[in-house]
Formats: sequence, C-alpha cells, structure tokens
Amino acid sequence: MNLPQRLLAASSFALLLALPQGALGDELLEYGEYLSSQCSTCHRLDAFEGGIPPLGHLPKDYFIIAMREYKSGRRDNPAMVSVANALTDEEITALATYYAAQRQQ
Ligand code: HEC
Repeated sequence: MNLPQRLLAASSFALLLALPQGALGDELLEYGEYLSSQCSTCHRLDAFEGGIPPLGHLPKDYFIIAMREYKSGRRDNPAMVSVANALTDEEITALATYYAAQRQQ
C-alpha cells in the first residue's frame, strides 16, 4: 500500500469507528426508554413511591450490577427477580443507559 492509500484506509477506519458509536448510543437510549414503560408502573424517576426506589439517579454500572444481582438471586426481592429474569443483557444495558441519562434532567 502506498502512503495516500494508507491514509485513506486509516481515515475511513476512524470514520467507521466514530459514526456508528453515536448512532448506537441514541438507539440504546431510545430502546431503553421504550423498555422503561414496564418499570414505570412501579418506579418513579425522581422519588420513592410506596417504598420503591427511584431509578432516575442510578449510575449505569450500579444499575447493571443491581440487575445482575436480582438475576443471580443475590438480591431476592420477588418482583424484581422476575422482572430481571425476563430481561436480556442487551435490554438491561439499554435500560441502564436510559436511566443514567435521566440524571441531568
Ligand atoms: C412490581 C413492581 C416493580 C416493577 C414492575 C419493577 N420494579 Fe424494580 N424494584 C421494585 C422494588 C419493590 C424494588 C426494591 C427491591 C429491593 O429492595 O431489592 C425495586 C428495585 C429496583 C432496582 C434497584 C434500585 C436500587 O436503588 O438499588 C432496580 C435497578 C430496578 N428495580 C429496576 C427495575 C427495572 C429496570 C424495571 C423494569 C424493567 C423494574 N425495576 C420494574 C419493584 C418493581
């Protein structure tokens, strides 16, 4: 490969990395918002409701770990165990992305 070709290859690779990442972030956020409709029957974003914790303040890592703990039974709240068991890892990541993004609002 000569130099111009190599530069071209490098820059289109960079473009490839930059573009889908943004698009993927938006998609995750929208998917998470869509999925969150099944959570908002119990959870509010910003306040405790009937002893149920709000989700809008949760950091993404914390959220994902909490959901894994419901799945594994380490956290044993029956409602949340059945909610978590019905979700795939991808759905949990989307929900975590959505709820973490509610922190600024
Ligand atoms: C039937 C009511 C109900 C529904 C529906 C529900 N939750 Fe929960 N959730 C709870 C309760 C009650 C707790 C507190 C349980 C505990 O003490 O472990 C909780 C706790 C959590 C926690 C831990 C919060 C923390 O601060 O540690 C997360 C995360 C969570 N829920 C996510 C979700 C998501 C995501 C959905 C929708 C996919 C959902 N929940 C749907 C009742 C519900």
